[in-house]
Amino acid sequence: MDTTSSSQLRPAMGRVAEIMKSRARGRDPLAYVRTYGCQQNVADGEKIKGLLAEMGFSFTEGPEDADLILFNTCAVREHAEDRVFGNIGALKHVKRRRPGTVIGVCGCMAEQSHVAQRLQKSFPFVDMVFGTGAIHRLPELLCVVLEENRRAFLQGCQEQARLEGLPIRRDGESRAWVTAMYGCDNFCSYCIVPYVRGREKSREPEAVLQECRELVGAGYKEITLLGQNVNSYGKGLDRSANFAGLLRELDKIEGDYRIRFMTSHPKDASEELFQVMAESRHIPHHIHLPFQSGNDRILGEMNRRYTREKYLSLIRTARALMPDVTFTSDVIVGFPGETYEEFRDTLSLVEEVGFVNLFTFIYSPRVGTKAASMPDPVSHEEKTRWFAELLRVQEGIAAANCQKLVGTRQRVLVENQNRKNGLLQGRTLGSLVVDFPGGPGQVGQFADVEVTEARGWSLRGVETEG
Ligand code: SAH
Ligand code: SF4
Ligand code: F3S
Repeated sequence: MDTTSSSQLRPAMGRVAEIMKSRARGRDPLAYVRTYGCQQNVADGEKIKGLLAEMGFSFTEGPEDADLILFNTCAVREHAEDRVFGNIGALKHVKRRRPGTVIGVCGCMAEQSHVAQRLQKSFPFVDMVFGTGAIHRLPELLCVVLEENRRAFLQGCQEQARLEGLPIRRDGESRAWVTAMYGCDNFCSYCIVPYVRGREKSREPEAVLQECRELVGAGYKEITLLGQNVNSYGKGLDRSANFAGLLRELDKIEGDYRIRFMTSHPKDASEELFQVMAESRHIPHHIHLPFQSGNDRILGEMNRRYTREKYLSLIRTARALMPDVTFTSDVIVGFPGETYEEFRDTLSLVEEVGFVNLFTFIYSPRVGTKAASMPDPVSHEEKTRWFAELLRVQEGIAAANCQKLVGTRQRVLVENQNRKNGLLQGRTLGSLVVDFPGGPGQVGQFADVEVTEARGWSLRGVETEG
């Protein structure tokens, strides 16, 4: 396995830094890195920016004045891809005005060969395309573009790549993403992720622990551990590491912080995990546990490898151990062949569990996945109606969940200040949003808030004395 540290990348990085500096004529070269998709991609974007910062780049918020434009893309649904293609198309004018601008596409879309081919043929102003496993090769690819004046395309490197030791330039100062594992082995029949992120690979527990210790030491207040299926953490490592054990160790780090994690797959969620959460000092009692469908036939077709009853029994077990636990989830509406009757099982599961928040998606066929070749007779209009029905049901549940919290005191981590109304926005341990008056100095800090009002999906409150 090819393990890469930034010191091994030094020669290429030095050459890129030199060329970019001379091109920028005295000022720092500017990079615009735009990340789409999930937190895993955000975490990758922070590694890309870490490498770029070491090559002397500063960062800009738009493509207009950038010397390097990089789109870190998501392939999970068609809509996501269409948006990216639209935005890449718009860069043609940037390149025409400033031909020296280097344009690159990376991330999950770039890992698909049909996308790379389309970029190669129809977007000649794109200089560089590289997949999710090739982040550590960025300096080398930039050398090809800058020194040899060639376009550089690279996919299919996940199995060789180890992203350990790469520099990270974090976007936030209070919330941080920490990768626990890369890739996914589950091959849910609708999903492109295993094809664009390769096989599951867990990081060594010591590496995760060390990164978290440093973050807590640097004052970070919330660490989110990332993996497409964190509950299968540890498979393939030499020792018998598992996710519950990793959390138990992380919880021992002293300090005022929270540890969240995503995503849990119901087939691997264990009582031991809930037990660790219940006993922990730093893990909020909130679980993001995607169920995708409430119908057993559809779950089977999706290759999810659990039943509705297994899912509901997990919820019961978690609630028995943590009476205050909250759940959020992902749902797909209109999987190929799903009937309205089957969709109603999704509605009833949503009602039975009472999620505080739900991320809902209309099924989108992805090239190369098993579901993409299944007959899909229900029209998009019909699926849109089901989708609206699901949202209506969930709105009522979310509102009732919010109402229950009126009059309670909640510890929140302040995430930002609303530019329009000046209110601070914080998130409770159960992952609900609370708006309350306060000053900008509180962003990134914990606050104790009394909930005074429920407003649909969110809460209003006032700060109380700690
Ligand atoms: N690994 C996570 C989710 C990764 S993708 C898990 O297993 O839960 C995030 C969400 O996108 C999925 O939970 C699913 O609800 C949705 N999704 C994935 N592929 C999709 C597709 N082809 N069409 C619609 N939604 C999809
Ligand atoms: Fe996709 Fe399933 Fe893997 Fe999640 S667990 S990333 S939905 S294949
Ligand atoms: Fe999208 Fe890739 Fe994440 S496909 S959802 S960015 S793993």
